[in-house]
Amino acid sequence: MKKPIIVGNWKLNGNKELINKFFIPLNKFLEKYYKKSTVVIAPPILYAAFIQHIFSSNKRNFFIGAQNTDLHSSGPFTGEISPSMLIDVEVDYVIIGHSERRLYHQEDNESTAKKFYILKKENLIPIVCIGETLKEKRDNQIQEKCKNQIDEIFKICGSKHAFNNSIIAYEPIWAIGSGRSADPEEVQRIANFIREYIELKANSEIKNFFIQYGGSVTPDNVKQLISQKDIDGFLIGGASLQLQEFTKIIKIINQMYS
Ligand code: PGA
Repeated sequence: MKKPIIVGNWKLNGNKELINKFFIPLNKFLEKYYKKSTVVIAPPILYAAFIQHIFSSNKRNFFIGAQNTDLHSSGPFTGEISPSMLIDVEVDYVIIGHSERRLYHQEDNESTAKKFYILKKENLIPIVCIGETLKEKRDNQIQEKCKNQIDEIFKICGSKHAFNNSIIAYEPIWAIGSGRSADPEEVQRIANFIREYIELKANSEIKNFFIQYGGSVTPDNVKQLISQKDIDGFLIGGASLQLQEFTKIIKIINQMYS
């Protein structure tokens, strides 16, 4: 059975005080769980080295993620962070193409696919976010939207193995931060569509490929969601900032998997 992967996306939240309170108990809690599930926290990137420092002499039972990357490795790109810098501060997973970046930073399928390509080249694990708006859902365009977002990655990566060692986070945009998560059976249908579409296009089985769901995941809805066959984990925003909520979610997922 696949090890579920649970990623906390802190977005533009957190500070040293929260980090000091959050990570030691989280790490202790994960002593019991880290073998059965992969847990990643993506804080604002300037805190990655601080977290790394806290755990410089004890074993870290979670991975550090980033919320974005630049395409370049160095040079005159003010304000950017490169994949090699992420590696330097022990980042393993990188979220790309989040709907908030598409909305507020003009990112699109092409720039997201280029980032996907560069991350794979650097052996970082991309978590690429895809999903529809409420209007697209009402217009029955969910599959079409996801298909276009996936196709651009195939186009730019040009390889049947593009999706090996990667994660797609299916995140209906209307469900993000709204307190209204998508219906688990509908998420299963879409996750299954995504998996089959990628396998068909790649004309082979994809190795180490995960599909997450994201959008208002809480301890109350996670059990039904993780029971779906094609959901391998979650991208969690709000609830990942609350230690109690987040650990409850991890516990429930692990009960379902054991
Ligand atoms: P949410 O965010 O869990 O707060 O809905 C999910 C995300 O944006 O990745």
